[in-house]
Amino acid sequence: MSANIAVMASGRGSNLQVLLDSISSGNCPACVKLVISDKENAPALDIANREGVEKSLFVNPKSYCNREEFDMACANFIEESQCEWIILAGYMRILSSKFVQRFHGKILNIHPSLLPSFIGATAIQDALTYGVKVSGCTVHLVDDVLDGGPILAQAVVPVYDDDCVESLHARIQIEEHRLYPEVVTRILKQGFSLCGRRVVWHP
Ligand code: GRF
Repeated sequence: MSANIAVMASGRGSNLQVLLDSISSGNCPACVKLVISDKENAPALDIANREGVEKSLFVNPKSYCNREEFDMACANFIEESQCEWIILAGYMRILSSKFVQRFHGKILNIHPSLLPSFIGATAIQDALTYGVKVSGCTVHLVDDVLDGGPILAQAVVPVYDDDCVESLHARIQIEEHRLYPEVVTRILKQGFSLCGRRVVWHP
């Protein structure tokens, strides 16, 4: 049986695309029922339409009094679509605690650094400025701490002397596109338990 998934995305949507590809190739036992974006012109919404996702929605943050109300509206859409998992794919808003509590342990994010280093929206620039020689990406569960939930998987890429944000991001994205669908698939096929902060994959 396949699991219903909601994807939240603000931008390009390449991680949404690879997830949809992995599902349609029969690898990932999931169905993306809903794509939500906080940006009207997000290419991620075009991808959702083109790929025949059942429901794709622009939810306008300006239509709500505050972040919590916006998040609750999104949460209601997600529940209406009977989605069990929420995949953040370049979603550029911080989720309110109420949202995180409502879907506790069921929200995944991908971040373009080796957490816990370089949290936040400027992770790639921050890694370059710091001068690290390797960086990468992290798939993690979302909790109340920004980019701070338990780590599901990480991938490492080298940082070269002549890298700029774009070149390093491109190298990181190659790994993201492999790792994110792989982790979603593993969660659905294998499952995991939490031992404190540690994710222990079921045998
Ligand atoms: C990715 O690099 C991800 O790590 C970060 O936002 C970017 C989204 O890329 N959270 P895309 O929109 O999936 O192409």
